[in-house]
Amino acid sequence: MQVGQLLNGGRAIVVGGGGMGNGRAIGRGIAAAGARVALVDIDPARVAEAVVDVEAQGGAALGLVGDVRDQAVVERIVAEAVEWLGGLDTLVTVVGGYSLFAKWAPLAEVTDDQWNLIMDLNLTYVVRFAREAIRVFLDQGSGGSIVSIGSISGNVASPYGAAYGAAKAALTNLAKSVSVEYGDKGIRMNVLSCGVIATEAQQANYPDGGGLAERIPAGRPGRPEEIANAVVFLASPYASYVSGQNLTADGSLTSRFPLPLPDVRSNVAG
Ligand SMILES: NC(=O)c1ccc[n+]([C@@H]2O[C@H](COP(=O)([O-])OP(=O)(O)OC[C@H]3O[C@@H](n4cnc5c(N)ncnc54)[C@H](O)[C@@H]3O)[C@@H](O)[C@H]2O)c1
Repeated sequence: MQVGQLLNGGRAIVVGGGGMGNGRAIGRGIAAAGARVALVDIDPARVAEAVVDVEAQGGAALGLVGDVRDQAVVERIVAEAVEWLGGLDTLVTVVGGYSLFAKWAPLAEVTDDQWNLIMDLNLTYVVRFAREAIRVFLDQGSGGSIVSIGSISGNVASPYGAAYGAAKAALTNLAKSVSVEYGDKGIRMNVLSCGVIATEAQQANYPDGGGLAERIPAGRPGRPEEIANAVVFLASPYASYVSGQNLTADGSLTSRFPLPLPDVRSNVAG
C-alpha cells in the first residue's frame, strides 16, 4: 500500500535513514509521499544503499555520512542537507536503541559512560538536530515538523535498560517544549513510540520468536512500513493541529490490562 502524496514537494532529513529496519523504511516512505529526502547515517555503505532504494522507487535522495554524537558534524550535515533540499520542512530522528550500543544491566551496575552513551544516542542528538532544524524553520518563516522515533520502553519501565526508557520518555517532554515555545511559528514536534517492530535488531533480541504473536493483541509484530506510514502522517499537513504528542504504534501491546483476569469469555455473547 502506498501512502498518498501527503508530503508533496516537501523537503526532509531522516537521521538514521540508512538503517536496516525503521530508518530505511521511513526514508522510503517519506520519499513515496512526495518529499525529497536527505538520508543521514554513520554507515556509508548503508546510506548509499538507502539512496539507491529511494531512487529505484522514483524518488530523490541525498546520502550524508556522519556521527550524530558530534555537534560540529550535525551542523555540517544540516547545512549540506538544507542546501541540497533548498530548505527544510521535516526532520525525522530515527537513530536509537539499546542493545546495539550497550549491554542490558540492572541500574546499580550501569556506569556513567554507558548511561551517557545511551542518552546521547536516543535523546541528546535529537536536541542537536532539533536546534538546527528550528533555526532553519524560523529563518524560512514557514514552520516545520519534527518527528522523533520513540519506544514503548519510554511509556512503561524498560527493565535492565533504564537509560533507554528514560531517554525515550524524555523525547515526549522535549516535543511538548518545542510545541509550546514555537507553536506560534508553525513548528510542531511529535514522538512516534514503536512497539515490537520486525527489524533485524528486534529479531536479534528475540531469536526464538519470544511468543510475540500470542502476546501482541494485533497478533504479530509491526512492520517498518507501518511505522513509516505513521511518521508520514505526523509530518504531513493532515497533522497540522497535532503537536507535543506521543503517538504509540504497538498493535495494542501496552493497552492490555496487565494482570491476569478470570476467564469471562464464556459470559460474552457471540
Ligand atoms: N525495532 C524495534 O522493535 C523498535 C522498537 C521500539 C523502538 N525502536 C526504535 O526505532 C529506531 C530505529 O531502530 P531500528 O532497530 O529499526 O534501527 P535501524 O535499522 O533503523 O537503524 C538505525 C541506524 O542508526 C545508525 N546509527 C547508529 N549510531 C549512529 C551514529 N552515532 N550516528 C549516525 N547514525 C547512527 C545505524 O547505522 C543504523 O543504520 C530506534 O530509535 C529504536 O529505539 C525500534
